[in-house]
Amino acid sequence: MYRCKATCRAHANIAFVKYWGVVDSNLNLPANGSLSMTLSHAHSTTTVAWMDVDPTGEADIVVIDGKEQSGSAHRRTVSHLDRIRTAMGVPWPARVESRNSFPASAGIASSASGFCALTVAACQALAAGGRRDIPDRRHQARLARRASGSACRSFQGGFVEWSAGGDDATSVACQVAGPDHWPLHDVVAVLDAGPKSVSSHDGHRLAATSPLQEERVRQVQSHLNTARSAIRARDLKSLGEISERDAMLMHAVMMSSEPPLLFLNEGSVALMRQIRDWRLQEGLEVYFTVDAGPNLHVLCNEADVGEVSHRLARWPSVQDILVNGPGPAPELRNSPLF
Ligand code: DP6
Repeated sequence: MYRCKATCRAHANIAFVKYWGVVDSNLNLPANGSLSMTLSHAHSTTTVAWMDVDPTGEADIVVIDGKEQSGSAHRRTVSHLDRIRTAMGVPWPARVESRNSFPASAGIASSASGFCALTVAACQALAAGGRRDIPDRRHQARLARRASGSACRSFQGGFVEWSAGGDDATSVACQVAGPDHWPLHDVVAVLDAGPKSVSSHDGHRLAATSPLQEERVRQVQSHLNTARSAIRARDLKSLGEISERDAMLMHAVMMSSEPPLLFLNEGSVALMRQIRDWRLQEGLEVYFTVDAGPNLHVLCNEADVGEVSHRLARWPSVQDILVNGPGPAPELRNSPLF
């Protein structure tokens, strides 16, 4: 039987200044600060129900997009439920059901929205069950960060900076500007819908093997300053240029790790060149960024979304496009998934 349950919708995010590399794998403390935009149309809705302890020893059940999980996705979710159980001193197993508004393979990290929604729903369910001492959102974000670093940025809407910090209490994300501050858009160009060859989790652990990582981490501080000021001034040129530079530097670290990681494919590189041509030769204000995968996130002004979407949809290697503006903070929902 369910003791109590709650549902939360949380949004994914795209980083302009990237988190790459961890200095403490247990606490998930990043090598550097990062800065992102929460995405309006890429979200995970998650219901968590805490169950009575089953004498037969029934374990946690995890269903994502209608499919009961086993293997690594199940293990990762159970580890996070363990973290919440320990923090809250509860022994109960949970049933978790989550739905993503975007395909898992769209080049948008579902771990950020997924672990944010899971943490908020799990804590809220305990509150619904009568617990008074549930952690506040700031504390919940620190818990979620330990499951997936970028999840801590999804606790805020709009534009968000995660300060690397030096310990669990100081590695936190704060809002730079709300979702209504600037209707910047991210048009995701899906070039390869297949699963990633190496997870971000494994990639972060390889970053320190690159001879370029130390220099990247040194430069990130100035990238953060530029990106923060650009957001405040709603300056696409400045934000776009620093986003491209930061993404390239992260990929240079990836490519020079041991073993090397090559996430970009031929289509990604061709489209990067095309985006630069649209900008430099035709004056269309577009910039790209790219995470640990081949799909490009194309940044543009709201007025150009139609033109950019049209051009990307016609580009031969683009399989799908997803349009996002700045999205909101996580919201509790009254419509449970089960
Ligand atoms: C390249 O947050 O997905 O997208 O902490 O292992 O879950 P884990 O990694 P994750 O890493 C995101 C890496 C990135 C850059 C970014 O979003 O900042």
